[in-house]
Amino acid sequence: MKSKIVGVGHYVPDNVVTNADLEKMMDTSSDWIIERTGIQERRWVVPGQDTNSGMAIKASHMALERAGLSPSDIDFIVFATLSPEYFFPGPGVTLQHEMGMDTVGALDIRAQCSGFIYGLSVADQYIKSGMYKNILVVGSEVQNIVLDKTTRGRGTAVLFGDGAGAAVLQPSRDGQSGILSTHLHSQGEHRDLLCLKEPGATGERFINQGLEQSMDIYPIMDGPAVFKHAVTRFDEVIRESLEANGMQPSDIDLFVPHQANLRISQMVQRKLRLRDDQVFNNIQRYGNTTAATIPIALSELWEQVRLQPGKIISLAAFGSGFTWASALIRW
Ligand code: ACO
Repeated sequence: MKSKIVGVGHYVPDNVVTNADLEKMMDTSSDWIIERTGIQERRWVVPGQDTNSGMAIKASHMALERAGLSPSDIDFIVFATLSPEYFFPGPGVTLQHEMGMDTVGALDIRAQCSGFIYGLSVADQYIKSGMYKNILVVGSEVQNIVLDKTTRGRGTAVLFGDGAGAAVLQPSRDGQSGILSTHLHSQGEHRDLLCLKEPGATGERFINQGLEQSMDIYPIMDGPAVFKHAVTRFDEVIRESLEANGMQPSDIDLFVPHQANLRISQMVQRKLRLRDDQVFNNIQRYGNTTAATIPIALSELWEQVRLQPGKIISLAAFGSGFTWASALIRW
């Protein structure tokens, strides 16, 4: 028994923020951003127009339509995000309610950039065990709100974008195609190298009246350390998935990396000796949308009719935690 992705969808906000727009907010340059990250523009939600769960709902409707299903067919929701609307509950229940689903379970995943693959892995196990038949896996982020958009925050502010993607999983009809395996990892000793501390339930939050002055309300990132770990872990976890299935890097038809940084993806591509046409990148247009990068990429690949039956698709992610993960799929 295998589980299979039978529909994917995405939604990004209309508001395009170019590197030139960022030059007006902080001391940066489009050349610096493109050279270090590959990013040319990103989408940022305009407050009052889009929300995390609202974008997720739009992406989910597209995924359901492509799967030929309606919301009432879904029997479980897995929602990955690091930017929920509420401290609690997570956005999974909002999606359940606003899409008019029955009282199905809604599980929120907090594995940051690896969240979508963690979610796929959870859904895969439930389907393989026979517990559920149609699972919606979502990654959605509204990150621009928490960025420090001044020169002080330029190391992170230029990287991140907003958007949502979704996938519908079902038991594979032919038993051959579908998710071949998933591989999940974490290393919490590096928690503080990439994090956002507040609001956190540490006590500080409730007594510290000066929180709005605190740097802890902005993301912290040791960029060079993240870069170094990411390149190693991406390569490792992709090879782990290939070995688990008796394959080589040359068996990969299409590699869809989490869109962290174009330079990271290119280094991993070189390590795996993949050609440009075997790797999908869209970070140039969307920046790093964290849990949403992979389902947005899959949805664009669906539109380009590049997800062909029998193709071997490799997904991999690395991010805050650190967490990292891979999935190998026979489409
Ligand atoms: N514009 C102009 N200058 C900048 C900017 C900016 N936006 N940001 C930083 N700088 C400056 C720094 O202040 C520093 O100046 P200094 O030398 O005078 O001190 C200089 O550029 C170099 O800074 P570094 O941080 O060493 O630059 P680096 O070459 O490492 O590039 C970057 C920074 C792009 C963040 C890189 O480290 C990186 O991509 N790391 C990976 C992080 C990542 O991908 N995070 C995504 C989230 S996690 C994930 O999804 C994997």
